[in-house]
Amino acid sequence: MKKSHEQFIARQELLSKQYDEAYYEKQHKRGKLTARERILLLFDEGTFEETDAYTPPASASFGKTVKAFGDGVVTGFGKVNGRLVYAFSQDFNVLGGSLGSQHAAKIVKMQDLALKTGSPIVGLIDSGGARIQEGISSLNGYADIFKRNVLSSGVIPQISVIMGPAAGGAVYSPALTDFIFMTADTSYMFVTGPNVVKEVLNETVTTEDLGGASVHGTKSGVADFVYNDDENTILGVKQLLSYLPSNNLETPPVHQGDALKEKTEDRLQHIVPEDPDKPYDVKEIIELIVDNGKFLEVSENHAMNIITAFARIDGHSVGIIANQPKVMAGTLDIDSSVKAARFINICNSFNIPIVTLEDVPGFLPGTDQEHDGIIRHGAKLLYAYTNATVPKITIILRKAYGGAYIVMNSKGIGGDFSFAWPTAEIAVMGPDGAIAILYRKELAEAENPLALKKELTQTYRDEVTNPYIADEKGFIDEVIDPALTRSKIITCLNALQRKTVLRIDRKHGNVPL
Ligand code: HXC
Repeated sequence: MKKSHEQFIARQELLSKQYDEAYYEKQHKRGKLTARERILLLFDEGTFEETDAYTPPASASFGKTVKAFGDGVVTGFGKVNGRLVYAFSQDFNVLGGSLGSQHAAKIVKMQDLALKTGSPIVGLIDSGGARIQEGISSLNGYADIFKRNVLSSGVIPQISVIMGPAAGGAVYSPALTDFIFMTADTSYMFVTGPNVVKEVLNETVTTEDLGGASVHGTKSGVADFVYNDDENTILGVKQLLSYLPSNNLETPPVHQGDALKEKTEDRLQHIVPEDPDKPYDVKEIIELIVDNGKFLEVSENHAMNIITAFARIDGHSVGIIANQPKVMAGTLDIDSSVKAARFINICNSFNIPIVTLEDVPGFLPGTDQEHDGIIRHGAKLLYAYTNATVPKITIILRKAYGGAYIVMNSKGIGGDFSFAWPTAEIAVMGPDGAIAILYRKELAEAENPLALKKELTQTYRDEVTNPYIADEKGFIDEVIDPALTRSKIITCLNALQRKTVLRIDRKHGNVPL
């Protein structure tokens, strides 16, 4: 063997020795897979190409350093479901996955290549944050990453997967990306940890209660997806990627095999109860409309009064937004407005048509909501729907009242097609509120106020709220048989395939924040 080749082999052996049994055991004991195992799970077998595997940590004058290859991050590219994806996976076994300058440079290379080639990038995060011993160099490493997160936003899908710690300012890279996954029990995210909370506020809180997946998947809404272990989390990432295009100039992959084509679904006629005040589960309706009844919910356990989900209809990706009458009667509040607005922006960035299933009695009233800024947050939803140029179809299932009617993709703000089921009620407000305002005196003076109210309610329903009035006035396109909803959506999505919207050139709109 030539000397040069011997040297080459020896170097390879050194690298593989780094990944000995102890290396795997250390991470498995923490209930986690190693950085490499995660990467191999993500990519189609045999397709992953590693980059910069031999990069050592930069020298540091303070604290520990190690002689490890890779500087605590595995980077590279390969195929996921047959399509090119770039990725990085932080290695907690090397200096706690902390981000030094070389580590950052490796990630930045992947970000640059992903952007140049129009490919999604997935970051598997398991890190103690900025490497303390490298000081300002590691802080600058984060700055380099943040900048690219922002420049890639709306161009390529960026997915962050939190599989261990994500602490301090480091959380802002995931926050700048399109989706955040978290693994239950082994991951956490916070700007300041429990020790600082104790010092500054004298509050005692556990890591999980401060920033675990149980908090971010429900209350804060920071995490879009939570899975119970590393394997399922990565499977979730692959599933999500299947709904997305590689970049903003492409359309999502079509899965013709999934399509059941147009079909009549009689069961749809029986889900919305006759009594308008009775709740039902809108997910039953989604299941009957989408291909194979399959959909992937985003932020499933946060702001559950609105559903945001990816699905396919006739093989094409769609974003479904549905008010959920089962939770808070489907009212819009701050969290649901922001959740839906963000989802619309993602669909619009990546050319995914939006199908809205509407049953909304209005915005949630109350001092809490007003004082916390429902005006400004509700405006986000209105802005996002109006601003979105992808095909937009609405089906009014039942209530469409007041400002919420307008906000939920009415034709007035740019909805392309709007249909109503015979159960729809469309008006400025529901009968109770309308009658109380218009007939207060008459009700107070009536011999039998209950009988009068009942009569007025019926007249209001017949003359004001019924969907045929909206149909005749052209505010909706048609009142349809619920059984035909899916075929109507397919027809309209086809009709909108070449939709183009020209807008006045501007730097950007002033999105309500
Ligand atoms: C250097 C670090 C490190 C860091 C962990 N390690 N964090 N090394 N810089 N930031 C090393 C530890 O010294 C240890 O090395 C190994 O990683 C494992 O860490 P442990 O503490 O033993 O693990 P664990 O008990 O699981 O605790 C994990 C942890 C804790 C919660 C992440 O290590 C921790 O609190 N680290 C600091 C977190 C932090 O405050 N980072 C800065 C955030 S600010 P040995 O050799 O003993 O195995 C930030 C600014 C970003 O990131 C700027 C953007 C604006």
